[in-house]
Amino acid sequence: MDTKSDIQNREDVVRLVDSFYYKVRRDEYLAPIFDMPEAEWQRHLPRMYNFWENWLFQTGNYEGGMMWVHIQANERTPLNVGHFERWLSYFFITTDELFAGEKAEFVKSKALEIGQIMNAKLGQINRQKQT
Ligand code: HEM
Repeated sequence: MDTKSDIQNREDVVRLVDSFYYKVRRDEYLAPIFDMPEAEWQRHLPRMYNFWENWLFQTGNYEGGMMWVHIQANERTPLNVGHFERWLSYFFITTDELFAGEKAEFVKSKALEIGQIMNAKLGQINRQKQT
């Protein structure tokens, strides 16, 4: 029997995001993209917590601008479908390791949806650069 509970509050969001990044930052392919000074990282994390908390519980505490952040990241390291597949697989694995339920399913489908949009948008930008 699955005894895991669903994502219930910010504390759970923090656990999800922290465990996700623990994996991402040890992946040889993704780690360099997230290699930033500790102070920057400490600014980044609360934005990720707010982002997911807002999607899950409509807290209104995420101020937006995420696409722009990834356009900038893509300028430093062009992001391709391989990056997205890895990012998403860590996100799915982490969510399933920790939680089970409607909210857990919701964050996975939302991440996939946003990842697909982002990948399409950045792919378009990267193809334009080549021409
Ligand atoms: C190839 C996959 C991805 C890579 C390599 C990536 C990389 C990054 C990087 C480098 C940052 C900036 C960190 C900083 O300087 O603060 C960032 C921020 C962020 N990412 Fe991603 N990301 C990916 C996919 C996604 C997806 C699919 C989502 C959403 C479901 C997402 C959500 C966010 C959010 C919410 C932020 C914070 C934006 C802000 O500062 O307001 N990322 N990501």
